[in-house]
Amino acid sequence: MPRILLTGGAGYIGSHTYAALRDAGHEATILDDFSNADPSVIDRLGRLTGGEVDVVRGSVLDRDVLDRTFASRTFDGVIHFAARKAVGESVLKPLDYFETNIGGLITLTQAMKAADVWRIVFSSTATVYGEPEVFPISETAPLSHTSPYAFTKLTCENILTQAAQADPWVVGILRYFNPVGAHPTGLIGEDPQGIPDNLMPFIAKVALGELPELQVFGDDYDTPDGTAWRDYIHVVDLARAHVQSLDALLAGRAHTLNIGTGTPVSVLEMHAAYQAAVGRDLPYRIVGRRPGDVPKLYADPARAQQELDFHAEHGLEEMCASSWNWVQRQAEGWRFNS
Ligand code: WQD
Repeated sequence: MPRILLTGGAGYIGSHTYAALRDAGHEATILDDFSNADPSVIDRLGRLTGGEVDVVRGSVLDRDVLDRTFASRTFDGVIHFAARKAVGESVLKPLDYFETNIGGLITLTQAMKAADVWRIVFSSTATVYGEPEVFPISETAPLSHTSPYAFTKLTCENILTQAAQADPWVVGILRYFNPVGAHPTGLIGEDPQGIPDNLMPFIAKVALGELPELQVFGDDYDTPDGTAWRDYIHVVDLARAHVQSLDALLAGRAHTLNIGTGTPVSVLEMHAAYQAAVGRDLPYRIVGRRPGDVPKLYADPARAQQELDFHAEHGLEEMCASSWNWVQRQAEGWRFNS
């Protein structure tokens, strides 16, 4: 079976994609510098997949590590997750984001070219749509960047598109909407370092009693309850989309796709769903809008359905229940076996 390299494979989306690849019978190798992932995830992935996990500890910025990795294994493709991903941090540290996200892609693709490996799935984001005006959002919507983070993702998309004019690259670009939830075993999930930026891990910390209340960033948007709309997609569905994307590349079919459910959910709707999963009230307070937030982001999932036969299968209830199970097991140190 083809072996796949997952850069940043110890991270949130990467670890779930590793599990999905192994479940689909693919061999896989994780390359990660563990700058934003707890090393214990490797042992938990081994428990989850029932086998040894092939790991290379290193950075996509380290050409020597990449060359040694490509020389020691035969890869049929790469799924490139390794990047910095916090919008707010990117505003404060733009050069670090340019170096890691753009420099990392260039170093990786140069090493891939030298190793004659031409298939790459690239982890992009719906933030490349800026502040859309037409909904649902299709892949033909205008592109713009509203942060250095979004700039790096848009630039990387363009680099891959341009490179494919000169060399036999087969590229899959996946524009994630809002990944949430965790693996049903509770062995892997979102593990933000410090105070979470994102909505669901923040609500989870309130549910654990680690944070006093959820601050709802604005209730004066043009939505039924006044709070902003996002297209939340279960991380297990998103992981499966990567397997289907890779299989399309192995068949020579390049693509650029939105990966979302097509269903908008408001902040207060997410809060209510999480509260139902936990079974008790979770305090929240309406505060002002967060700078840089857009009112609405939700996908037209039609092209992913047409090109990959991909359909999101998990609803809001499972997104919240799986997250709540994960954070409880994480808090208890995954004591019980599975
Ligand atoms: C979702 C909604 C907030 C926290 C970002 C990146 C995107 C991707 C996911 C990298 C918004 C509201 C949030 C809180 C709140 N990252 N919110 N209180 O901003 O849509 O997307 O993260 O791949 O690229 O842009 O996600 O989870 O931060 O916010 O009210 O404490 O929840 O205003 O409406 P976002 P988010």
